[in-house]
Amino acid sequence: MTPNTAPLAVDLLDAPAPNLVTELPGPRARALIERDRRVTSPSMGRVYPLVPGRGKGCVIEDVDGNRFLDFNAGIAVTSTGHCHPRVVEAIERQSNTLLHYCSSDWYIPAYVDLCERLVASSPIAPARVFLGNSGTEAVEAAIKLARHATGRTNVIAFLGSFHGRSLGSLSLTASKARYRGGFGPLLPGVYHAPYGEAGYIKNVIFRHLTPPEDVAAIVVEPIQGEGGYLVPPAGWLEELRELCDEHGIVLVADEVQSGVGRTGKMWAIEHDGVVPDVILAGKGLASGLPLSAVIARADLMSWGAGKHGSTFGGNPVACAAALATLDLVESGMAANATTVGDHLMQRLRELASRHRNIRDVRGRGLMIGVEFPTHDDAEALEQACFRRGLLVLTCGESSVRIAPPLVVTIEQADVAIQILDDVLTELGDAVAQ
Ligand SMILES: Cc1ncc(COP(=O)(O)O)c(C=O)c1O
Repeated sequence: MTPNTAPLAVDLLDAPAPNLVTELPGPRARALIERDRRVTSPSMGRVYPLVPGRGKGCVIEDVDGNRFLDFNAGIAVTSTGHCHPRVVEAIERQSNTLLHYCSSDWYIPAYVDLCERLVASSPIAPARVFLGNSGTEAVEAAIKLARHATGRTNVIAFLGSFHGRSLGSLSLTASKARYRGGFGPLLPGVYHAPYGEAGYIKNVIFRHLTPPEDVAAIVVEPIQGEGGYLVPPAGWLEELRELCDEHGIVLVADEVQSGVGRTGKMWAIEHDGVVPDVILAGKGLASGLPLSAVIARADLMSWGAGKHGSTFGGNPVACAAALATLDLVESGMAANATTVGDHLMQRLRELASRHRNIRDVRGRGLMIGVEFPTHDDAEALEQACFRRGLLVLTCGESSVRIAPPLVVTIEQADVAIQILDDVLTELGDAVAQ
């Protein structure tokens, strides 16, 4: 049996979803999962047996023809929706023009176009940009840049944070111990502080662990992603900014998950009115093509030729996808993230008043975390949603993240809320009315 891989003939943005037509997983999905289990790295802990075949907007059709409402966006990646025609058209155009020429050694038009756009989009001025292929590469580049610019070695990150899985970024990642276990020794000189706790760095880290003059960077997610979609308390990011200013430390905002319009602003840190020294972007930047960016204060990014580079980073096809993505995000999708995000937040809070298992609803725009009493509760909800055709994913210890493509409609949001309501009722936690 060959799965259907033809482009979707009908506009599934408008077609009803979810629509499940087989048991889950269906026969084609089961066959593919069997093959996958024989040849892929078992390090990838798959969450449920979803085998996407095609996608459009907020809808994923699996290889058996089951249609799912996608509130994951491939973990905050397909920002403009699956296969947005303007993004696909930009990819096609660039693919027919130039597929690759190493940007670290020559001058690539799409690379320059994108860097100009990213500089213009960023609150950092003047800024320069380095492009990579993935979030973790952006984090690695930021660590190198901060060390190079300051001549210092140490880095401060936060408990619960996720910055990637290559050895430098993994040294900062502190969301789950199992990500780190078995890979040590990691980068020396990395200190972790509790996320959102005022005064900790000054009173504990600087007093007992490392003097500030040895610290090159503080790396922070303006909204913690993998760690639970946590919005820090008001004023905390500003406190980090002041600390960095006082001690000449580079403030790095890891916006790999929160950036590119997801929270309603281009960069989540803009909600707090804080200007970091470096912004890292990835995930949603190119709507699904591999691309990341390090946007840095121009005077910091003063390292000489050969200090950093990448064969594929800033590949012209990925840059073309990113340029189309930025056009779409800036011309309405970020605003839609605010509108539909506010609606979702309000409806989730209504749900919380009827379902005692919802302990918290938080977030900004379309980066919303819903907290449950235990990990098992969050996972049971995630799995039950899948069985009903709604794709969501756990995060943190006991939360579920709501991160649909930025193109999601109010109607689709209401369908998702109805499914969540039904699932919570099925799981038996409704408050007696
Ligand atoms: C905030 C943040 N930084 C970095 C990364 C790593 O990105 P990648 O998986 O593309 O290496 C992630 C991935 O989830 C992330 O959420």
